[in-house]
Amino acid sequence: MPKDLDPRLNPTPREARLEDALRPLVDSLRSLLATAEPEAQPFLRDWPAMLIARPQTARSLPVVSALEGLSRFAAPHTRTLVEAIAAMAEDTDWRQTYTRADFGERFLQNYGWSEWVGRRGMFESDAIACGVLLLGPDIEYPAHSHEAEELYLPLAGHAWWRSGQSDWRLRPPGQWIHHPSWTTHAVRTAAEPLLAAYVWRAGDLTAKSRIGR
Ligand SMILES: [Fe+2]
Repeated sequence: MPKDLDPRLNPTPREARLEDALRPLVDSLRSLLATAEPEAQPFLRDWPAMLIARPQTARSLPVVSALEGLSRFAAPHTRTLVEAIAAMAEDTDWRQTYTRADFGERFLQNYGWSEWVGRRGMFESDAIACGVLLLGPDIEYPAHSHEAEELYLPLAGHAWWRSGQSDWRLRPPGQWIHHPSWTTHAVRTAAEPLLAAYVWRAGDLTAKSRIGR
């Protein structure tokens, strides 16, 4: 392909803006990951040494409106991240894995994710996938599991989390949550929406989760 036609070398103004906004956020998330000892070690090992960008489309979803004012529910050390994610929301590729048949229409109106690094995200990696999950208020993301090992960092919003056979626990923003491979987990929001960063490693990094326990 001629150089002037290669989309990686000729990003659109929107893609260039998103790349510039996202690069420091990925670096911030990596720095925060270093505080999630000891589970973080394999994730840090798999983290890409260089962030190589690829073209991204911008897609919106109804849940994106939940970002408005969401930083008031952030932890002190995640507030800047939340504000930056909200500021670039319109340039972001927001996606859904589930369908109406999985969890119903109300869930789809209140759920979305965007990948930052991985096989689909702005920056390439075959070893990890990371991005953000956004849930509206008063919604349950029912029990599901996946092969990939996962770390979640709630960035804004207190939500109820459940893992394996444990009871529901109210988790504040700013504390890491670890789900080993194939551990069933679920999350339920109350009055506050939830914005949480996720990192996956090992296993199929683009697989749809297995629903149920
Ligand atoms: Fe998960």
